[in-house]
Amino acid sequence: MTWHEILPAVCTSLIVVSAVLVAIGWRLIRRGRRDAHQKVMVTAAIAALLFFILYLARTLFVGNTSWGGPESLRMVYLVFLLFHIVLATVAAVFGITTLVLAWRKRFARHRKWGRSTSVIWFITAFTGLFVYLLLYVMYPGGHTKPVFEAIFG
Ligand code: HEM
Repeated sequence: MTWHEILPAVCTSLIVVSAVLVAIGWRLIRRGRRDAHQKVMVTAAIAALLFFILYLARTLFVGNTSWGGPESLRMVYLVFLLFHIVLATVAAVFGITTLVLAWRKRFARHRKWGRSTSVIWFITAFTGLFVYLLLYVMYPGGHTKPVFEAIFG
């Protein structure tokens, strides 16, 4: 296995682990376990941050992988990828807002934002996993090149 194969798998695992932790954290607060909720949610945020750092490093130093599947599915894949990227960005903004509200002890608002953040994060993780499967498992990965080249050809 090369770094080109290992890094995407590690990144995808981090997103999935983060989403599973958010689900556990939600369950914990529903049961009234505030301290455990805080610890698990902060760990989920660290996993997401780690993903972002690795993703950024990969984009800068290795490049992103272009579509290697059939040409007929290229457009569908790109729209799906764009949807995932937009969702991940929204999830990051919502995540930071949710954390800030918790730290300021504004729990009524935190609760509202937390629910939306969690749901958006679940969809982000699911679509991220699907992008990984499409790009590396279901079809042979294309060439690795810088981000703009990978998207625009
Ligand atoms: C990004 C990280 C976090 C997410 C996604 C999140 C998510 C949530 C969600 C979904 C709820 C509402 C549960 C429900 O009623 O269905 C909630 C409530 C709560 N969270 Fe978080 N949380 C996060 C971080 C934190 C942190 C760091 C703290 C501690 C400082 C915290 C403290 C609380 C408390 C005390 C409540 C209960 C609020 C109430 O019942 O009025 N959360 N959180």
